[in-house]
Amino acid sequence: MARRYVCVLALAAVLLPIFTSVSRSKGLRGRELQGTSRIPSRFSEEERVAMKEALKGAIQIPTVSFSHEESNTTALMEFGEYIRKVVPTVFNTSFIQHEVVGKYSQLFTVTGSDPSLQPYMLMAHFDVVPAPQEGWAVPPFSGLEREGIIHGRGTLDNKNSVMAILQALELLLIRNYMPRRSFFIALGHDEEVSGMRGAHRIAALLQARGVQLAFIVDEGSFIFDGFITSLKKPFAMISVSEKGAIDLMLQVNMTPGHSSAPPKETSIGILSAAVSRLEQTPMPNMFRSGPLKTMLQGLASEFPFPINIVMNNLWLFWPLVSRLMERNSVTNALVRTTTALTMFNAGIKVNVIPQVAQATVNIRIHPAQTVHEVLEHLKNTVADDRVQFQVLRAFDPLPISPSDDQAWGYQLLRQTIQSVFPEINTVVPGFCIGNTDSRHYTNLTTGIYLFNPLYLTPQDFKSIHGINEKISVQAFETQVKFIFELIQNADTDRKPVLHQHEL
Ligand SMILES: *[C@@H]1O[C@H](CO)[C@@H](O)[C@H](O)[C@H]1NC(C)=O
Ligand SMILES: *[C@@H]1O[C@H](CO)[C@@H](O)[C@H](O)[C@H]1NC(C)=O
Ligand SMILES: *[C@@H]1O[C@H](CO)[C@@H](O)[C@H](O)[C@H]1NC(C)=O
Repeated sequence: MARRYVCVLALAAVLLPIFTSVSRSKGLRGRELQGTSRIPSRFSEEERVAMKEALKGAIQIPTVSFSHEESNTTALMEFGEYIRKVVPTVFNTSFIQHEVVGKYSQLFTVTGSDPSLQPYMLMAHFDVVPAPQEGWAVPPFSGLEREGIIHGRGTLDNKNSVMAILQALELLLIRNYMPRRSFFIALGHDEEVSGMRGAHRIAALLQARGVQLAFIVDEGSFIFDGFITSLKKPFAMISVSEKGAIDLMLQVNMTPGHSSAPPKETSIGILSAAVSRLEQTPMPNMFRSGPLKTMLQGLASEFPFPINIVMNNLWLFWPLVSRLMERNSVTNALVRTTTALTMFNAGIKVNVIPQVAQATVNIRIHPAQTVHEVLEHLKNTVADDRVQFQVLRAFDPLPISPSDDQAWGYQLLRQTIQSVFPEINTVVPGFCIGNTDSRHYTNLTTGIYLFNPLYLTPQDFKSIHGINEKISVQAFETQVKFIFELIQNADTDRKPVLHQHEL
């Protein structure tokens, strides 16, 4: 009897999650995340004004990274003082430790009440790329608000995240919140120029302290709106990887000579033939490896007929889809490692055959490949020993973080997206073509998730590093609310799990 009862329970336990997952999100919302009493994410008028004013003030500090060597250090220093003023409680709470790392980067250690729960980390960066005045509707460092929109460099990349994280924590603290699970907040000051002085040092410091993280959330992906023309509804993408990169210099050295009696082959001719071969021989299409296929399958039911049939049956249609993706330069960058020839130098005088010819190639590595593999491949394509390879800089793609039902960080983000953005039906894993500070943290965790809780249109996308970068007050408030919810959701010790794959 007892035994039979156990079996029925087990069966119910197996079946129930199927219904929950079939009815999509609705049944999940909130329920799995309850446990301890929650602080509702409702903010007073006064708090909402303070929230947007704090962002405007942050935009007004021109924390520009001009180059690897040069940044506005006065502004970086000023930013550190500024945050003390706008989130005073964060700096005056006994269970929060604050450290400045690499002179300007900011690290907060928030110690939870339950040391058995593995900590996580929220990341953002407060340096920005330069913003020449030309073309801007308002001065880029004014932080002006017009018709509910805050304008300025850093409103999307990435002071919005910096201020949203700090303010969400401040608002929780003044409501007497005390976390169960510890977490870190790492705010970098040189992300736009590699993160070697900021994020890299924070990562090394935490590694030396033996810290291991359950997961990391950094900038990178968004709720995409209007990027895929046949998709009517926006969808959320959590990036689980990002491309790697190689800056490669190719060089040919030949005997110099006079142009009146030229040799059969010159450094220029040899190098030209080599780079032409690189351009004519694209790296292999990696459509079937990596997160892209999972992403399209996740989006399948959102597409209209007949694309939905194609996306639902990629086992059959993948050759077609992967070839279609090669046709457009943006989607092509999603299916393969790209090689862009960006510099070419040789020769100084019209009648002198130059000794040296040099070309620089910027390579972006698909998550399914490595620096080593790509270099081997390029050497085989060039197939000429006279062409020397010099690697100027190289790093591997981010290892692909798990996004399955057991992936705690991913599922936590997914559920928070579904509760804060109930209108979003689809959350899919993806990967970033660009790079973030999170690559410095690969020793600390296997779960690196890139997601900004914001709607992004193609026009917004162009404004990042371009002109007229802006965010609506409402979108920023929602970002604060998202972090406010996420921090509380992370306190649960129950891993949110859907068991459908265990059948
Ligand atoms: C650097 O930042 C300070 C404010 O912190 C500002 O007054 C100054 O104009 C900035 N310098 C440059 C070159 O942008
Ligand atoms: C910090 O908090 C303590 C009480 O916990 C309070 O007495 C003190 O005034 C606060 N300091 C600041 C600068 O807010
Ligand atoms: C990971 O740790 C190893 C060993 O300490 C170190 O050499 C390497 O640079 C670290 N990687 C990163 C990305 O920090």
